[in-house]
Amino acid sequence: MAEKKLEGAGLRGQVAGHTALSTVGKAGKGLTYRGYAIEELAEKATFEEVAYMLLYGHLPNQSEYDEYSAKLKSYRRLPDELKEVLQRVPKSTHPMDVLRTGSSMLGNLEPEGDFSNQNETADRILAAMPSIITYWYRFSHQGETIETETDHPTMGGQFLSLLTGEEPSEEHARFLDVSLILYAEHGFNASTFTARICASTLSDMHSCVTGAIGTLRGPLHGGANEAAMETIEKFSSREEANEGIKKMLANKEKIMGFGHAVYTNEDPRNKIVKAWAKKLGESSGDSLLYEVSEEVETVMTEEKDLFANTDFYMASAYHYLGIPTPIFTPLFVIGRTSGWTANVMEQRADNRIIRPSEEYTGPDKSEWVDMTDR
Ligand code: COA
Repeated sequence: MAEKKLEGAGLRGQVAGHTALSTVGKAGKGLTYRGYAIEELAEKATFEEVAYMLLYGHLPNQSEYDEYSAKLKSYRRLPDELKEVLQRVPKSTHPMDVLRTGSSMLGNLEPEGDFSNQNETADRILAAMPSIITYWYRFSHQGETIETETDHPTMGGQFLSLLTGEEPSEEHARFLDVSLILYAEHGFNASTFTARICASTLSDMHSCVTGAIGTLRGPLHGGANEAAMETIEKFSSREEANEGIKKMLANKEKIMGFGHAVYTNEDPRNKIVKAWAKKLGESSGDSLLYEVSEEVETVMTEEKDLFANTDFYMASAYHYLGIPTPIFTPLFVIGRTSGWTANVMEQRADNRIIRPSEEYTGPDKSEWVDMTDR
């Protein structure tokens, strides 16, 4: 028999610390990063501007922005030892595991030491992420060794050009930027909380990020965009999607990309991603995947009263960009690295080791029995 869930299981609804980085679903505020509404950032900002704002506390002026962009570009280079490791990671490895290894290896080669250069460490890890994943992908899948230190003006555009070997359209590069902005920060979600717990022991930034990658990987968290794609690509019409989802629900299956631990009515990022998925589908000349997604959303609202979260339409939108499905969650990593590292610095600035209590459910007293008598 399934055990009754403890009151407050999953720490749901409990305040576990302070943050000035984001509001997630707060009444009258919605989703904001340092007070800026996500809708406005997705319309007007570049990802680099958002990352700077999260990491340095304010929006950059022109000269700060130019300097920051140039710095991130210079950090796109990968050390030879890291390239060698990436060359040895098998093609069959999940790209999230590649990032986990890449982040950890970077920490071996460029250890953080004391925390006096923590901003530099955060910038370096952030800029290295697209290089790590695309370097490995192109080597393992196409046998090519690529030069990651490109002059592409944005991280999103750089990622797409490294992944495909072609210059992305303006529309594709902009959507990638928007998706990184939407993924950048989200309160004490599971991966960010992992990073903060790690930081609270005064561990180094690479360990915090490596642990966060492992946490993001699961389908209940960041892995949902990949899992959502696996669901929608099975259907070749609205009718099939309607029937298929109803069947899955009847079998008590979870539909990835729906529901949320904090939001109760909607995920404010969804309408932005949905509009982009529609636009990208139209531009591609094949909107089937978008239509199937819409049908799944309708069924989920009608049957379960559940709303799509940011990962659901991200699946079709990334697909329209030509991104292979296993690379969806690594894009979440690239965006969220800005939030993770900003949270690590915030935790360090006002630290107390995170150590909750537990409710013991084991035996009262166990009697020792010698091995021969067991
Ligand atoms: N599909 C079908 N049913 C779902 C569901 C989904 N995506 N999400 C929640 N439910 C149902 C649960 O089965 C549960 O029903 P029950 O009370 O009959 O057992 C109820 O809604 C509450 O769900 P629960 O998993 O306990 O909520 P939670 O707050 O602990 O979890 C999520 C939140 C996000 C983990 C959960 O909604 C989920 O697993 N979603 C799919 C994964 C996903 O998209 N993750 C990305 C989040 S941004």
